[in-house]
Amino acid sequence: MPIHYNQTAQEFHLQTGQTSYIFTVLKNNQLGHLYYGKKIRHRDDFSRMLLIDSRSNTTSVFEGELEFSLELIKQEYPSYGTTDFRDPAFQITQENGSRISGFEYHNHKVVKGKPLIHPMPAAYAEEEDAVTLEVILRDPVTHVELILSYSVFEQENVITRHVRFINRGDESICINRAMSLSVDFPDADYEMVQLSGSWARERHVEARQLRTGVQSISSARGISGAQHNPFLALKRPETTEQQGEVYGFSFVYSGNFLAQAEVDHYDVTRVIMGLNPFDFRWVLESGEEFQTPEVVMVRSDDGLNGMSQIFHRLFQNHLVRGFWKDKERPVLMNNWEGTYFDFNEEKILQMAEAAKKVGVELFVLDDGWFGKRDDDTTSLGDWFVDKEKLPNGITGLAEKVNDLGLDFGLWFEPEMISKISRLYDEHPDWLLQVPDRRLSHGRHQFILDFSRREVVDYIFSMMAEILREAPITYVKWDMNRAMTEIGSLALPHDRQQETAHRYVMGVYDLYDRLTSEFPRVLFESCASGGCRFDPGMLYYAPQTWTSDNTDAVERLKIQYGTSMVYPLSTMGAHVSEVPNHQVNRVTSLKTRANVAYFGMFGYELDITTMTQEELDCISSQVAFYKENRGLVQRGTFYRIESPFEGNVTSWNIVSKDQAEVLVGRYLTLARANDGYHRLKLKGLDETRLYRIEGYRDAFYGDELMNAGLLVENYLPVQGDFESLVLKLIQVKE
Ligand code: DGJ
Repeated sequence: MPIHYNQTAQEFHLQTGQTSYIFTVLKNNQLGHLYYGKKIRHRDDFSRMLLIDSRSNTTSVFEGELEFSLELIKQEYPSYGTTDFRDPAFQITQENGSRISGFEYHNHKVVKGKPLIHPMPAAYAEEEDAVTLEVILRDPVTHVELILSYSVFEQENVITRHVRFINRGDESICINRAMSLSVDFPDADYEMVQLSGSWARERHVEARQLRTGVQSISSARGISGAQHNPFLALKRPETTEQQGEVYGFSFVYSGNFLAQAEVDHYDVTRVIMGLNPFDFRWVLESGEEFQTPEVVMVRSDDGLNGMSQIFHRLFQNHLVRGFWKDKERPVLMNNWEGTYFDFNEEKILQMAEAAKKVGVELFVLDDGWFGKRDDDTTSLGDWFVDKEKLPNGITGLAEKVNDLGLDFGLWFEPEMISKISRLYDEHPDWLLQVPDRRLSHGRHQFILDFSRREVVDYIFSMMAEILREAPITYVKWDMNRAMTEIGSLALPHDRQQETAHRYVMGVYDLYDRLTSEFPRVLFESCASGGCRFDPGMLYYAPQTWTSDNTDAVERLKIQYGTSMVYPLSTMGAHVSEVPNHQVNRVTSLKTRANVAYFGMFGYELDITTMTQEELDCISSQVAFYKENRGLVQRGTFYRIESPFEGNVTSWNIVSKDQAEVLVGRYLTLARANDGYHRLKLKGLDETRLYRIEGYRDAFYGDELMNAGLLVENYLPVQGDFESLVLKLIQVKE
């Protein structure tokens, strides 16, 4: 049983295959946290884990005694104002102005599987995959009910959490803060790992030693953002990629968030994660309910790779859905970097024809096909075809592309509006805006108010019309700016701070409607590349365009960092032109593909200008990828050498049955008279014999993992940006 309840001691013990999570009802009937860590055997009393002592230098809950202060107790879902002074998990304001709450244990229930938290994205489970505990707490003063949900994925070693507030009182309340998770760890000997960066430099791995006080990352951009991913890990200082203790937290949400570790004066570390309380305020009328998005918690003793592999399995098996979940993804050609806005039907068909010849399966028409969009100043919102560029419409073009033997995909930026557009002329009030203020733009564009149902309805009808008519099998859903002047003309003044969250819910609603009506369309989410790469998006779109930065060297860091949380099956990775459009670097076609192979592969260049030699090279790359994409999508990924630590990056993927291995090894800058390099592979079966494809050499797994491969045997001359990809297959002795 993964969930135990100790009736007498009023304790809950949640067990996954390798972890235990224990909490209890405290003397004041609120919940106290006892333990989150390596699995321990169940006992019917864990009360010794709770230290309640008396200190006269603090405040105490009950008059006449000093022994019970929340400041001294680890808590499960803490509030501010009743003897705990750390940042709380939630805060509610009553009509009388009081900000004090007291949620007391009422009852609990355990259900098989995991109830959907629709209309929110969340991990899903069959009845046999998870068990869910709902603990119901009530505030006797406001009659608000608080439900803490914990779903235990025993086999996957995951616990997910989220929270619901139900206003069962007569008065309205205001939720100022509603975290999805709070965990108090008993010590502070951790490094906080985060994925931070910027546009074109997304998800770089950073780690810092925890210090007393608050350390946090967040987004107030309306999207999860490239600056910080909604993820945080605590690892021991000695934990490496391959071994050591680590806790990981990932927020299944695509908007503003806060992820924070606060170390208090007793070296207790409180991790909280959830909707960013900054600029958030939600009015909950009597009878209404508010639910938070979900946090996925994992723990591993097998280092950062161990943590990542748990996230990868969960996201692949219990977050990504639909037709494309396990299906091999098509090798695509996207015209963006090849043409930008400057194309017509003839040009696209030439590109598609050349792409077909090298084995590409899907042609994607990017930005510029609609309205009068010859640059980025106009037409967003006008989702009807530009007949000057495409006289036969999208349907005509798509059919011609189909006739060439390719599937057809199309770009949209559904959440946006240009002021130069018919849509703006008709609905100037449909922009996110506040009264009497100038509106800031991003890339000349403005954001549609997706908190309004009629706006989402309209965009749905425009997109659905095209998708119903044309044979489209793939949609790239872009989103190219952060939010400013956040407000909705449709919401009353006291609900303006609900706008950003309502907007995200509108985005999910549109995704939901489109994926329901067009279940066979592969959606790839994108936000100026990887500015909204989060688990919320993956619930609807199985893959995300990882970054606008397609330089092979820069991509090493981006893909390495992204893999901390996200499986390779979610990461769009393309070979593009050189000199590279983002950093002007020239890398070989081989190295560009060697990096892009470790993602959902494609090309983003003008193939019609390539030499025969280059086309032949691309043909063999496409063939190689097709042979190995199952391994890339479903294998277990191991990071080996980090681009953040040195000149060499390496990684390998191992198939589930450990019979096949794909290895990537990359050198950033060449060094004269360098020493020899051994690449120690990970995750192989020690006892099996593996042969390297294209070579006669065969090695046992133990030799490959401990002595390693001598790199120079396979790559004798190493220049700048040199790379090596090897495929190993198990052979009979
Ligand atoms: C940003 C995306 O990341 C690019 O791939 C491309 O689709 C452009 N937008 C088009 O405007």
